[in-house]
Amino acid sequence: MPTKEIITLRVNGSTHELAVRPSDVLLDVLRENLNLTGTKRGCDMGTCGCCAVHLDGEPRLACLTLALEAVGHEVRTIEGLKGEGLLHPLQRAFAEHGGSQCGFCTPGFIMTAAAFLAENPRPTRAEIQEAISGNLCRCTGYVKIVDAIAAVAEARAATTG
Ligand code: FES
Ligand code: FES
Repeated sequence: MPTKEIITLRVNGSTHELAVRPSDVLLDVLRENLNLTGTKRGCDMGTCGCCAVHLDGEPRLACLTLALEAVGHEVRTIEGLKGEGLLHPLQRAFAEHGGSQCGFCTPGFIMTAAAFLAENPRPTRAEIQEAISGNLCRCTGYVKIVDAIAAVAEARAATTG
C-alpha cells in the first residue's frame, strides 16, 4: 500500500493537515477525513455531477480530483456556501421552486450553479440548461431546477439594476 504523506488543505476557509495516499481523491478526503458529507458520491466516475465542489471558485468534480491536486487551492463545499441568512440564495430557491426532491443531487447542482452565476450573472434559460448539463437528477425533471437558478439570477439582476 502506498505510503501516506501529510498535506495541507484549505477547505471552506479553514486549514487542515491530513495524511493522504497519492491516489486518494478529494471526494473521499472531504467525506471521510473531514466529515463534509454534503458532497455526494453518485457515480464515482465523473458522469453525475453529485460531487461538484469549487477549487478557487471553479467547479470541479471531487471524484475525479486527487486530494494532492487541491493543495495550494481554496476548496469550497456546499457546507461553505454561505448566504446572508441560514441558506444561500440558491438553496432557498431550490426549496421554494421544488428544485430538490430526494435532495441527493442538490449539492452538486447548487455548487455548479453558484460557479456558473458568478461567471454569467444574467443567463438565459438555455445557458442555464447548458451549465447544468453535467448534473443528473432522477427526481425533478430539471424544469424546476432551471426555474430555481433563473429566479436567483433574476433577483440579483433586480437588486443590482
Ligand atoms: S460522483 Fe463525481 S461525477 Fe458522479
Ligand atoms: S432531487 Fe432526487 S436525484 Fe435530484
